[in-house]
Amino acid sequence: MIRITEPLFSDEEKEAVLSILESGQITRGTWTRTFTDEFAKYVGVKYCFTVCSGTTALFVSLKALGVDRGDRVIVPAMSFMATIDAVYLAGGEPIVVDVDEFYTMDPNQLEDAVRRYRPKVVIPVHLYGGMADMEAIMYLSERYGFYVLEDAAQAHGAELKGKKAGSWGHVGAFSFYASKNVPMGEGGAITTNDDSIAKKIRSWIDFGDHPAFNFRITEFQAAIGTIQLRKLDAKNSRRREIAGVYTDAFRDLFPVPKEREGSFHVYHLYTLRHAERDRIVKDLRNAGIDARVYYPYLLHELRGSDHLPTPRAEALRREVFSIPVHPHLTDEEVSFVVETLTQIVSSGKIIS
Ligand SMILES: Cc1ncc(COP(=O)(O)O)c(C=O)c1O
Repeated sequence: MIRITEPLFSDEEKEAVLSILESGQITRGTWTRTFTDEFAKYVGVKYCFTVCSGTTALFVSLKALGVDRGDRVIVPAMSFMATIDAVYLAGGEPIVVDVDEFYTMDPNQLEDAVRRYRPKVVIPVHLYGGMADMEAIMYLSERYGFYVLEDAAQAHGAELKGKKAGSWGHVGAFSFYASKNVPMGEGGAITTNDDSIAKKIRSWIDFGDHPAFNFRITEFQAAIGTIQLRKLDAKNSRRREIAGVYTDAFRDLFPVPKEREGSFHVYHLYTLRHAERDRIVKDLRNAGIDARVYYPYLLHELRGSDHLPTPRAEALRREVFSIPVHPHLTDEEVSFVVETLTQIVSSGKIIS
């Protein structure tokens, strides 16, 4: 099976993990500080805090931005469920809006939702590794006075107008789950440039003047994350190279992913659309290609949340499917994916 995602480690990670075991400093050590410093520098922000998952990164960010009982938070219809669950866990009331042609929050509908619901926070998601329209969203933030929390779980290294994901909003939240562009196994990070928000974030992850969790990571995760971060640019280039091959090959067969002008897409996932999506996914899997649907649900349907009309997301939910684009695919595997998918769609019949 050509897997949808495949973290790959070398002797460097193995040696680092062994040296941590031998040193006995298994948490709160130099690797955690190194990762934090290097990730802040990479994203281009003043502060970075590590936490144990992307979900906790979102939760802590919302609490640090002051979200409490009944505060409204706007999220897009298409994302992983953690984006909306974190809002409920923080005590907030999510409002769901539609996506634009880039699969990210529609800023036009966002403005309608902001006027109607007066949110405290808006969470754009850089879905599949492509940047949301941060220029429009930050403009609305200034105009209407809400905080912006970027869900950058899928967008390590993505950029818009030369600024990285996680440095546009008031706060950025990242995940280092095993499948992500920087994998740690489990892990997350929160980025900000704001001194007072940083202080509040700290109080939520390492005890403070109110009841809080311990959301720390271990040295093992930090070491793996640091070494993977140093390889990120090379791995993102390979993802983009594979995406380029797919886009050239599939342009006449499917609506291919669009890259927002002035953006650097990091192809966490390569997502196509087709009316016969379910049949195609089944055929790909039968042929040994691990195609998957991200996501088979819309966020407001999951938890019965308030929402504006979401016609675009409803259509996409029935049609989207993702094919392997991880950086460890060989050229032969990429060609196999191209040939197999072309054959499945052109012949209109099942290969099995
Ligand atoms: C868009 C998005 N947000 C949040 C998360 C949550 O991250 P985690 O699984 O590390 O809790 C993920 C990934 O799993 C994600 O893809």
